[in-house]
Formats: sequence, structure tokens, C-alpha cells
Amino acid sequence: MKEKILQLKKEKNAVILAHYYAPAEAQEVADYVGDSFYLAKIAKKSTADIIVFCGVSFMGESAKILNPGKKVLMPDLTADCPMAHMVKPGQIQKMREKYEDLAVVCYINSTAELKCQSDVCVTSSNAIKIVRALPNINIFFIPDRNLGRYVASQVPEKNIIINSGYCPIHASITIEQLKKVKAEHPNAPILIHPECEPELLEISDYIGSTAEIIDYVANSPLDEFIICTEDGVDYKLITDNPRKKFYYPNPHPCCADMKLNTLENILSVMEKEDKEVFVDEEVARNAWKPLDRMLELGR
Ligand code: 13P
Ligand code: SF4
Repeated sequence: MKEKILQLKKEKNAVILAHYYAPAEAQEVADYVGDSFYLAKIAKKSTADIIVFCGVSFMGESAKILNPGKKVLMPDLTADCPMAHMVKPGQIQKMREKYEDLAVVCYINSTAELKCQSDVCVTSSNAIKIVRALPNINIFFIPDRNLGRYVASQVPEKNIIINSGYCPIHASITIEQLKKVKAEHPNAPILIHPECEPELLEISDYIGSTAEIIDYVANSPLDEFIICTEDGVDYKLITDNPRKKFYYPNPHPCCADMKLNTLENILSVMEKEDKEVFVDEEVARNAWKPLDRMLELGR
């Protein structure tokens, strides 16, 4: 299957992008593997005819919006991020009526329709930098309450109103699970994703996006780490650091939607080109603005 995929990539001038949470087999055949911010930048500047996005729907959608001339395919179009939908209808309008100078800051893990109503997008690796750079004092941060709270703790000069959405995978990791793995490996620092609950962030040593956690490990002289995020990052961590050890809370945090990016599904979509991402033209035009502003401010 891998050989066929590599051959089809050449024949069709296709490029494969994979998030760190995609299965190892998808990361192995991908041309680019990274966090949400990196993959959005790659998608925007891709000159390939076809972009195969091994991620979840908001990622495929963002690639299509940023590079509308390309055919964007997803190995499984049902791969979705539940958090992307977690803003109640009318919430944004209500908040805009309440605060005159409001900026709606939208985590990229959101539907294109939510992006359309927002002023700027962010990812977990640039949210603090972008919120700080905005001229607005009042910020409505959607949809993730945990990333929102984390940003609020780092940017106290702003009034950050937090929505109630959450990642079901990260938010379900409990403090007991994290303390248990720490008790088993007391010398290993805890590296955590900001989508986790604040009480877990409080006892952690480093908070960062998937790419930032991976960079931290690469630059650390230590040889063992507790990784508090989705366990797809294990592939990159082990490949790059064969002598280092990685421990996860039990059960391992696992995003079932990301795991739909199997080799079978990648091969099938590359052969048939049947699972294409389409975004309504007007929605795409309006969602492009906050995405592009993120790329500008996040540079
Ligand atoms: P990052 O890619 O920014 O680390 O975000 C993690 C995530 O949940 C993507 O769905
Ligand atoms: Fe969404 Fe969480 Fe899966 Fe990321 S890990 S895609 S935030 S459900």
C-alpha cells in the first residue's frame, strides 16, 4: 500500500499532509507532518495539484479556504473534531452587542461558519502571541474553554470571555491519572497540551502545542518525559529520540477521528479522488479573512 501511495503521489502531483495525531502509518507516507499552525501554512503555499489532508474536517476545510484552487481530499470525510461545533447559535452576536470593541478569537478547531463570524483565528502555538497583539481589550475566545483560560492566564491585561467548548480527549484526562503516572516516574517532567483542564496544567512543567512539546523533548538533556496529549505524537517522539522514554496517562489519550486516516483510506482516496472537501464560496471568502490574519499575526 505504501508503495502504491508513493507512486500515486508522483503520478498525480499530490502532497500528503498529516497531523501528529494521525496514525503512524499516515505520518510515514506524508510529505509534511506537523501541528495545526504548520500544516495551515504548508497548505496555503502548496503548489501540488492535490492536497491529501490526514487530519480532521476543520483542517481539510482550512486548507481548501487558504488554497481554493487545489483539490483537497481527506482519507475519511467523517473525521471531525467535536469541539469545532461547540459554540451555541447566537452566542457571538450576543457578545458583540454587549461589548463594542469585542474581538472574536477563534481557535482553528472550529467550523468554517464559526470562522466567518470571527475576527482572527489562532492555534495552540500562536494564541498567546496573537491575543496580545490585538488592539481590543475585550476578547471572546471560542470554542475551547481550556485554551481560552490558559491564554487568559498569560495575557492578564485583556478581558477574555471564555466559551464552554472543550476537546473530549484532552478534557477527559483526569488529575488522578496524571498524578499516578508522575508517581511512577517522579523524575520525568510533565509536558502538556493547553486543551487539558487547568488543574492539570498547574502541576505540569511545560505547556505547549504538539510541535512545541516535540521541540521541547528534542532540546532537553533529560531522558524521560510524561506526555499529556493525544498519543499520536509518540511516533515522532520515538523516531527522533530513540534513547528517550515517554510515558502517558492511562488509558492513553486517543482521538478516534484522527485515527480514521488509515493507509487503506489514504490509498483509496488517492485512487478514486472521491472524498473531496468543498466549502461554500461565500463561507470560504469570509472564513479566509481570520485565517489569513492568523498567518500574518502569527509569523
Ligand atoms: P495543535 O496541532 O495546535 O497542537 O492542536 C492539537 C489539536 O487538538 C489538533 O486537533
Ligand atoms: Fe478535536 Fe481533540 Fe481530536 Fe484535536 S484531539 S481533533 S481537539 S477531538
